Amino acid sequence: MAKPKKRFICAECGSVSHRWQGQCPDCSEWNTLVEEAPETKFSAKHDLSSGGKPITFESLDVATRPLERQTTGLAEFDRALGGGVVPGSAILMGGEPGIGKSTLLLQAAAAIARNGGDAVYISGEEATGQVRMRAGRLGLAGAPIKLAAATSVRDILTTLAGSAPPALLVIDSIQTMHSDMIEGAPGTVSQVRASAFELIRYAKENNVALVLVGHVTKDGNIAGPRVLEHMVDVVMSFEGERSHQYRILRALKNRFGAVDEIGVFAMEGQGLAEVSNPSMLFLSGREAPVAGSSVFPALEGTRPVLVEIQALIVRLQSGATPRRSVVGWESSRLAMLLAVLESRCGLNFSSAEVYLNVAGGYRLSDPAADLAVAAALVSALADKPLPLNSIWFGEVSLSAEIRPVSHASLRLKEAAKLGFDMASGPADEGQKVSGLRYSGLKGLMALVDRVMASA
Ligand code: TYD
Ligand code: MG
Repeated sequence: MAKPKKRFICAECGSVSHRWQGQCPDCSEWNTLVEEAPETKFSAKHDLSSGGKPITFESLDVATRPLERQTTGLAEFDRALGGGVVPGSAILMGGEPGIGKSTLLLQAAAAIARNGGDAVYISGEEATGQVRMRAGRLGLAGAPIKLAAATSVRDILTTLAGSAPPALLVIDSIQTMHSDMIEGAPGTVSQVRASAFELIRYAKENNVALVLVGHVTKDGNIAGPRVLEHMVDVVMSFEGERSHQYRILRALKNRFGAVDEIGVFAMEGQGLAEVSNPSMLFLSGREAPVAGSSVFPALEGTRPVLVEIQALIVRLQSGATPRRSVVGWESSRLAMLLAVLESRCGLNFSSAEVYLNVAGGYRLSDPAADLAVAAALVSALADKPLPLNSIWFGEVSLSAEIRPVSHASLRLKEAAKLGFDMASGPADEGQKVSGLRYSGLKGLMALVDRVMASA
């Protein structure tokens, strides 16, 4: 018999290679390939003359009931989910360790239990005493949650089969679960997949809303949540800087709703508090104008959020390669914007270090941020502060044009409500918003001229 081939699986994306490599050929992550047991081969060909049952085809045009959704008791969580959890669906809750996943889910489970729902919380990481202590701190000790510490999927499913299925089942975390259907230690790609598969099947068959917690980590020893993305209905990401108070819950995939709404929370002494009006959160306490700071009216789903962008330019004396460091924005986008400013507007960043930071631990993904970033960069380079009461938005193209963006009037209205009275953006944005003076910029050069002209 031929020796079974070695198999290396990427813990980030789950792709399979037959030799070890430092970098995954699929997702380009480093040091994520781990050896796993060889796959069982299904070499026998299907015998089509017997065994298979016929399947029935259906038409798309059948009246269906509207989706039933259950509220989690946390309005911000419901909003990010597109209106609550769908019974029988599987949700993957990803996030870095310590960001607050267990806290969020304990709060949601407690709220469901207090509203008469049956909520089961299985902790594979912490002892029940630890979870109880956290619940006490959160003021949830009285909530009738069913709590257990367990890691064996068979034990969990056997126990659950003994009574009516719960409304919510939280597994914290999937990386600690162990299925005896296959070999391997908890946390390996095959164990994580097999455990998730069994739990998801239970949830679908019994109409249970299942939440799997998945740690996102760069450590290749634990399989990341990406290997489960295709198996679940909803992928959520809980984000934020641990050193900052604010946390953002985002849906990255949702089979039952849109993925553009976010939930905003603040981590406080008594757990996560919901922030229902986040538009002011990411403006740091700005009093005097400072060079290198601009305000961008971002849009998250239907809610505008004003964020401060900070840029710092440090001129280098030596010929060392200058650093470009970005927190909260894409570094490739910064490189593009710097290139456009250099080649189309004649500015020189080549011998300077560039630091860009989005205040408050916020992560920007809106392409309309280009102009605000450019304004912060030019202001920092020229050492000219921008007016405190101004906002900037627009997408910048490689030809240095400023492109229109979605929902300009929503952005302008929110800014006017918060006391901003000057806005700069794409030239053809003709909207009139009372109390706000709008200047349309023809191109990036017009921005440079404006910044240079400011006091
Ligand atoms: P946790 O929910 O354990 O994170 P995760 O499950 O994602 O690993 O939250 C951990 C952090 O949250 C911890 O460092 C302390 C902080 N925290 C608070 O600030 N206030 C609280 O009320 C609680 C419960 C936690
Ligand atoms: Mg946890």
